Amino acid sequence: MRPVVALVPAAGRGVRLGEPTPKAFVPVGGIPMVRLAVDGLIASGAVHRVVVVVPAEMVDAASALLSTTSLTGGSMPPVPVQVVVGGAERTDSVRAGIAAAPDAGYYLVHDAARALTPPELIARVATELQAGSPAVVPALPVVDTVKSVDDAGVVTGTPDRARLRAIQTPQGFDAELLRRAYATDVGATDDAGLVERLGVAVHTVAGDPLAFKITTPLDLTLAEAVLSVGGSAQLGHSAVRTEVAG
Ligand code: C5P
Repeated sequence: MRPVVALVPAAGRGVRLGEPTPKAFVPVGGIPMVRLAVDGLIASGAVHRVVVVVPAEMVDAASALLSTTSLTGGSMPPVPVQVVVGGAERTDSVRAGIAAAPDAGYYLVHDAARALTPPELIARVATELQAGSPAVVPALPVVDTVKSVDDAGVVTGTPDRARLRAIQTPQGFDAELLRRAYATDVGATDDAGLVERLGVAVHTVAGDPLAFKITTPLDLTLAEAVLSVGGSAQLGHSAVRTEVAG
């Protein structure tokens, strides 16, 4: 069996949410996003190990926060969670995660900021990987018309919306392929972008609106609202259950 290792980049220091805390540690429904994200991965039953990548100053806090992770994925044994230090860019953080799990057969790279991602979506990505696709991303149709612009903000083109998709995480990869993609030194806004440059086909599975990235104060309000109506009750958090029951 080739181990499925989830890498969770949570080292962004961005404070776009208007809080001094690094984004992944901002609570949603009273629980830090990174903890929600890790519990979703474990609840999927598809992950053997989790590596969480955090800023240096958050290692102790993250270790304490994640050491109480007790959910197991179905019939699988308890899932170990390791905390490592990330870097200045997201790619640096993912690279640190890859280095911490050289034994992986597959990597699932999952933004901590997509804290409400349904476990079923995570399982879909893993299943497609294990069926033989070397690179798999969750995708949603785009509802807005998207345009390209030049430096002055003047529109230069309108791609056919029917061919566009918004891409989420977790993004799944054959481990050897992702290591090869990260051996190059180019930047990318997602991991699949690096794999595409190698000429490897990236497959899509159905994404989920709940896997949205919590980036702005509006996103945070939306996430709180989702939790308050039990949107991620399947994660099994007592705080969520209390809110649902109350
Ligand atoms: O900043 P952005 O929204 O692109 O971040 C996406 C994810 O990558 C977040 O979970 C964030 O914590 C993580 N990240 C990281 N290391 C960085 C920058 C972002 O782990 N240097």
